[in-house]
Amino acid sequence: MLKLISILVIVIVLAFGISAQTSAINIVPRPKSIKPLNGTFEFNFKTKIVANDEGSRKLAGYLNDYLLKFHGFKIEYVGNPPKNLKNAIVFERLSAQGNTPSEEDYSLYVTKDTIKIGARGDAGMFYGLQSFLQLLPAKIEKGKAKIPAVEILDQPRFKYRGMHLDVSRHFMPVEFVKKYIDLLSQYKFNQFHWHLTDDQGWRIEIKKYPKLTEIGSKRKESQFGPYTTTFRGDGIPIEGFYTQEQIKEVVAFAKSRHINVIPEIELPGHASAALAAYPELGKGCKENYDYKVQQTWGIFKEVFCPTDATFKFLEDVLTETISLFPDSPYIHIGGDEVLKDFWKESAFVQDLMKRENLKDEHEVQSYFIRRMEKFINSKGKKIIGWDEILEGGLAPNATVMSWRGEKGGIQAAKAKHDVIMTPTDYMYFDYGQGDPKFEPLNIGGFVSLEKVYSYNPIPKELNAEEGKYILGAQANIWTEYLKTPERVEYMMLPRMLALSEVNWSPQEAKNFDDFKSRLPNQFTRLDAQKVNYRIPAPDGLQNILLADTDKAKIELTSPMPTAKIFYTLDGSEPTEKSAEYTKPFEVTLAANQTKELKTVVMTAAGRKSVIFGATILRRPYLEPVKISDQDKLVRFSYYKKSFTSVS
Ligand code: ACM
Repeated sequence: MLKLISILVIVIVLAFGISAQTSAINIVPRPKSIKPLNGTFEFNFKTKIVANDEGSRKLAGYLNDYLLKFHGFKIEYVGNPPKNLKNAIVFERLSAQGNTPSEEDYSLYVTKDTIKIGARGDAGMFYGLQSFLQLLPAKIEKGKAKIPAVEILDQPRFKYRGMHLDVSRHFMPVEFVKKYIDLLSQYKFNQFHWHLTDDQGWRIEIKKYPKLTEIGSKRKESQFGPYTTTFRGDGIPIEGFYTQEQIKEVVAFAKSRHINVIPEIELPGHASAALAAYPELGKGCKENYDYKVQQTWGIFKEVFCPTDATFKFLEDVLTETISLFPDSPYIHIGGDEVLKDFWKESAFVQDLMKRENLKDEHEVQSYFIRRMEKFINSKGKKIIGWDEILEGGLAPNATVMSWRGEKGGIQAAKAKHDVIMTPTDYMYFDYGQGDPKFEPLNIGGFVSLEKVYSYNPIPKELNAEEGKYILGAQANIWTEYLKTPERVEYMMLPRMLALSEVNWSPQEAKNFDDFKSRLPNQFTRLDAQKVNYRIPAPDGLQNILLADTDKAKIELTSPMPTAKIFYTLDGSEPTEKSAEYTKPFEVTLAANQTKELKTVVMTAAGRKSVIFGATILRRPYLEPVKISDQDKLVRFSYYKKSFTSVS
């Protein structure tokens, strides 16, 4: 018996010992393999960096910039390791021989004496450094931090790990674009898809066609409030574009963070801004038409006419664009949501169809894309297009971005084309994240953090060989309703953290509860960077339907250990003056009664969440739950109420 107890004690001590150590390892995205070791490394201002090649020295500079910015000190770096190597961070270049790490693989060994970041390529070294930075506390107190000993061996699941940003609907300043890219890089993304042109604004300077930005980057105002079929303006003019110098600056910044920038020039639809600047690009399809930079959202009939003049224009635009993105293997040409009305009505297009043996307007679209692809391929680049480019026949070398679900992606992969998965149900970060009654205005829909996390970019319809054509996943941030960088950040995070794990971590290692337990550490880091991430709802908050009882038990957990939850039960808006949730409690309801539990989360950094509400009903319940008028206005499906039944 005594023996049993002592074994039990040893087991408990070991378990606690290990969990106390691993609990400090909260890296996002979760590395492929983590082995906690015994002991800790004490990081302090006397720690040295050993970096003996150019790539590593650049990273040493990055590390010192980071330390200075967030912790107020720098550390010394030396070229060659001292004999008795102690208290050092060592960048070790691994050879390509042996079991051949790829450019993005890295290892991170923390022991009592050293931190060794090993990689073959600069990208791997950068990712190793990012993981190390996540082992540091958000604030290093008194110039010292204890880092748990650990062995990490890591590599990405997918080679394309992307985020998109629409700067047409609302222009985003250069400084914010850099902040966005910097955030991507901290979570091991490697692709930034920059949606530069659309109906509501042309945002890239093209020297040969100055009116694109003189005229095409400006609109008088935008749609006020949620989308309705009758336009009501908000009276706020929108303008802005990136000069070619600014674009080069952004591309160089992204490169320093191992992010490739993919420009998107939309064609042949979503072209109103270009047509407003150069109406002759519609000539042959529509005469004397009053093109304008659109003020509202949606899909428009305005379209480039497939004339020689249009192709000449687009080739000129793409020539300048390609020169600004010299390292990107891809140019995105859009291709989505092309209304064919003007083409149908056009004698020129009907003639073209006869001449080129095109059987319908979808084939005209395909002809358009193929011509552009040929040109872009001739410049040494590949095209990406939205999944509509499948209609009428796919261009021979195109990569497909599957956004209307996975169908297009599956079809393309089966036809041996590369695919990037970005289906609306999981990857549209412009969609809502909670009850539209309390969320800031958005385009509608509902893509929760958990939904994003649950995504597997390889559809089960594909066999192993076909699955290889899935390059990875990307989330899109369309900005119809996102007027400011702060609002973009709110839609981006923490969903982007979930996506980082979808793209990077092994599918079998994914676990949503474990992911959530690693979030508070990330929130503290985001706080230090002044990022307006969405504070998640308390865990345990749910709609409750009482069957044979009059009592509902409310048991909540704060999304961050240091945050407080305040609540009301009388329908009023909760504030820091409302009751504070400290322990589980019961709510008693009379027959037929309904109560609204409204909560708000206040973080230690002083930020306040949106309201998170839950309905508690007691049967017999006579009326259906009402959907407010505001909810009805929201496009697409709306946030669904589901009830947990308690009897
Ligand atoms: C898209 O959302 N129209 C690609």
